[in-house]
Amino acid sequence: MLAERFDVEEGGDLRRQAAGAAALVADPTVPVDGELLDAAGDTLRVVANFAVGYDNIDVEACRARGVVVTNTPDVLTNANAALAVALMLAAARRLGEAERLVRAGRWTGWEPGQLLGRELSGTVVGILGLGRIGRRVAELLRGFDVSLLGTSRSPHPDVEQRLAVDRVSFDELVGRSDFVTLHVPLSEETRHLIDDDALARFKPGAILVNTARGGLIDSAALVSALRAGRLAGAGLDVYENEPKVPQELAELENVVLAPHIGSATATTRDAMASLVAENVIAVLEGHDPVTPVWR
Ligand code: NAP
Ligand code: GLV
Repeated sequence: MLAERFDVEEGGDLRRQAAGAAALVADPTVPVDGELLDAAGDTLRVVANFAVGYDNIDVEACRARGVVVTNTPDVLTNANAALAVALMLAAARRLGEAERLVRAGRWTGWEPGQLLGRELSGTVVGILGLGRIGRRVAELLRGFDVSLLGTSRSPHPDVEQRLAVDRVSFDELVGRSDFVTLHVPLSEETRHLIDDDALARFKPGAILVNTARGGLIDSAALVSALRAGRLAGAGLDVYENEPKVPQELAELENVVLAPHIGSATATTRDAMASLVAENVIAVLEGHDPVTPVWR
């Protein structure tokens, strides 16, 4: 879509290529800071993120330069929510351990006490962040017969009622939930939301799932909680310093690890790509962006 209308350059040295660009297409691995914006210069009109999360972008620096910022909400909501549920089940049913056993040729046959996991049904699931993805998680969990708790800064009584989610404080959510799943954006306010102090207030034996951003969790605190048995397990798609995954996490049997694939289905990535292109085209052709973060 973009190549039909504009000269498109991909990969290579970002700062050099940015010079004189009218649009930058970034993804969560690309920090878009004042330096990059300055390298682009005053030809730049839009930064289009190939992601819904935009913590990689200095939005204030864009605003100061009059550069529009866009992201890809909605089209990836279901894919990410489904992965969160998959990680809940995988951690609860010890799927990582089970698969490693089979692949290593160490499985000797059915045993009544082997790899006993936990039910999701009948438990309390806490959803931190009742936005698009958090709400979809609530919908997907309907068939599992769970009780739902949620947090958000502002109340949405109609949504909470429709989804049968009780909106509670952070402390109440972590203290009562058997599963805690993170769906807030990464910001200065939410960085290390889950630290030693927060983990000490979790219900003992809870399972933590993160398909949002790695920086929400203090990884050292998470490793300690898992080693101490304070948490029974974790399902993670995102990490503090991607693509580095702390060795201590990789060594723990009760952790299921995915490589930031929350939106990685073919249909979702196609829809994200189209939305990125539509945003760039709209701005460069003088129209309103389709999904602006700031304009
Ligand atoms: P969203 O619709 O903006 O939802 C975020 C929710 O978090 C909002 O409802 C917001 O509600 C709440 N929130 C924000 N700050 C909060 C705080 N300090 N405390 C409590 N709640 C807070 O975003 P989304 O589309 O659901 O996406 C959520 C995040 O998922 C993205 O930012 C991204 O980082 C991540 N993500 C990851 C992947 C992946 O590949 N793993 C894929 C997609 C998305 P209030 O404003 O009312 O508080
Ligand atoms: C992916 O990480 C996204 O925020 O869309």
